[in-house]
Amino acid sequence: MSASGGSFITVEGGEGCGKSTLIKGLLAALQAEGRSVITTREPGGTPLAESVRTLVLSPPEGDAWTPLAEALLMNAARSDHVEKKIRPALERGDWVLCDRFSDSTLVYQGVGGVSRDILLAMQSEVTARTRPDMTFILDAPPEAMLSRRTARGTSDAFERRPIEFHRKVREAFLDIARNDPGRCVVLNAELAPEALVDAALKAVRERLVPA
Ligand code: TMP
Repeated sequence: MSASGGSFITVEGGEGCGKSTLIKGLLAALQAEGRSVITTREPGGTPLAESVRTLVLSPPEGDAWTPLAEALLMNAARSDHVEKKIRPALERGDWVLCDRFSDSTLVYQGVGGVSRDILLAMQSEVTARTRPDMTFILDAPPEAMLSRRTARGTSDAFERRPIEFHRKVREAFLDIARNDPGRCVVLNAELAPEALVDAALKAVRERLVPA
């Protein structure tokens, strides 16, 4: 919890793991307790960072960013987002629920081949003063997430990458959780949405809300 009372919570996991449903549920529950809460996402969250989102996630047909360029763009967007939106909100005492943050860069651009040292150096510069108090990692076998996306009719981008990529992403997120158990809470993404929100709220109450 920041000095003024807000907490910074990030939600991470592979595509299709249910991050947005969890964030909606947490938002409603925390607001019902009378807290002031904002939700945001990465890449994005500010006008400039949203422009970078379009640039990095939708390169022209037939072209692609190198993993290093992706890492630089993600961090450029994050720097703007942290300085203009996340930190001011925490300083006002708001709670911030963010859909993806710096763990996603370590995981995705790390799996893409960018060296861990370079990724950690960028992360420490960009997030020096603003680190998540708590991170939920939504975990499930990639096959389960793929069928969920197929059922929703949103499988295209997901299917473009081989299942092996998604297995590596899953392992990399679990590795982050193992190395930082004080911040990270792994949740079973195959739980029903209400059960997932309940499990997350329990962790928030245990770890972030003083008795
Ligand atoms: P989303 O659709 O779950 O919001 O994620 C957007 C995509 O951006 C997803 O494929 C993960 C990717 N991503 C990275 O590769 N690196 C990052 O740092 C972030 C924040 C997202």
